[in-house]
Amino acid sequence: MHTTTGAHFTRIGFILAAAGSAVGLGNIWKFPYIVGENGGGAFVLVYLATIMLIGFSLLLTEMLIGAKGKGDTVSSFESLDPTPKKRWKYAGFMALNGLVIMSFYSVVIGWIFHNIYTLLFFGLPSDVPTAMAHFTHLMTQQPFTQVLWHTLASLIVISILFKGIKQGIERLNLYLMPALVLIFIVLLFYSMRFESSFLQSLSFMFYPDFSTLTSHSIIQAMGHAFFTLSIGMGALLTYSAALPKSASLAKSAFYITFLDTFIALLASVVIFAFLFHFDAKPSQGPGLVFASMPVIFYELKTMGFVLALLFFLALAFAGLTSAVSLVEPFVEYLINRHKSSRNQAVLLSVASYYVVGLVVIASTTQGISTYLQIGSRSFFDFMQYISDSILLPFSGLVMALFVGYVMPQKRVKAYLKDEMPYAVYVLWLVCIRIVAPLALIFMFLNLTGMVTF
Ligand code: TRP
Repeated sequence: MHTTTGAHFTRIGFILAAAGSAVGLGNIWKFPYIVGENGGGAFVLVYLATIMLIGFSLLLTEMLIGAKGKGDTVSSFESLDPTPKKRWKYAGFMALNGLVIMSFYSVVIGWIFHNIYTLLFFGLPSDVPTAMAHFTHLMTQQPFTQVLWHTLASLIVISILFKGIKQGIERLNLYLMPALVLIFIVLLFYSMRFESSFLQSLSFMFYPDFSTLTSHSIIQAMGHAFFTLSIGMGALLTYSAALPKSASLAKSAFYITFLDTFIALLASVVIFAFLFHFDAKPSQGPGLVFASMPVIFYELKTMGFVLALLFFLALAFAGLTSAVSLVEPFVEYLINRHKSSRNQAVLLSVASYYVVGLVVIASTTQGISTYLQIGSRSFFDFMQYISDSILLPFSGLVMALFVGYVMPQKRVKAYLKDEMPYAVYVLWLVCIRIVAPLALIFMFLNLTGMVTF
């Protein structure tokens, strides 16, 4: 049997690493801008419902496969597969989804590094148009600068993954995760001083206006629920294989879901409070945190400079702790199944997304971008789209069917019976057998245009 080669996490190390994977650019960069684009409260409600009904149960499902299969993604499916042919092991290739995601994730981490650098050496921009112009300039006219930062991000990922689960991943999260939470709490208190804008932000986030909801935004909210919980590429599966025996799966899954949702909501409330206070619009797309936040901090003078630095550092931390979890599954797979050394495996994995990342950068560069369009999307948007809307949900569906129908139910029940009350277990089973598959099939049908509303 193939088992994970690395050491085991400590219990707190596991929670932090798993939460570090979940809490990422998705929470702080992406969630606020898609909430902004989709009109606020109603979108948040769909997102929360998806997290509770589908996200949590699939997270537990993915963790169960890792904790009981005890290997890399492919080996875990193989060892739990009761069928004689063991074809379910191919589901383990979901580890490749992580590299697809990293091709743009690493580029975005690069933007954050660039922001920190300009902040330190040139100060903050004084108005939104200037800031937006900076951001657009970086995206469309400075491919080499972007390549430089994308390279730096990749080198950091390499240096952490070389050290493995315990010395690398656990250590990183042990420092960065508490730092991130602390920074956001400081920002929260600061934003509460803008009383009316703070309240306006709360009502934007939590008062649902259903007229803003379209079928597209429902699909987007569902897709994001997968992305933000790191479901569907084996990140948490791989981490769970290194879970200490004493840890409870259900409790861990609950903490992870809670922390992830809490930080996404916290970050959005803070960001919108700042935005409303300075009369900026919430619907600015990917440039939201890059263009609006710096200007807002500019208005706050010296204190603003400190807050800006903290904000972008937190963003960088969140990105890096997620990035390592996007690459590690494929690394484990190479080590276990192809007898690579850890260093070789890390270099091969990083090199493969790094190259695609160069195409992602080219795809937003003026003059080249028109050649790198797929349909109406830039290659950058396309990579986001296929991972969010196709690869992650598809792997989610496969996991739900595998644990819900293929694995012997007696065994599944035996694994989980001491973890939770029986009623919760039944609820979970209904979610992964019926609710999640139906929701996912509906998502695919909608994407292909077969079902619209
Ligand atoms: N969840 C992270 C975020 O919100 C991104 C991420 C890390 C991820 N690991 C993943 C997404 C695995 C999907 C699958 O930014």
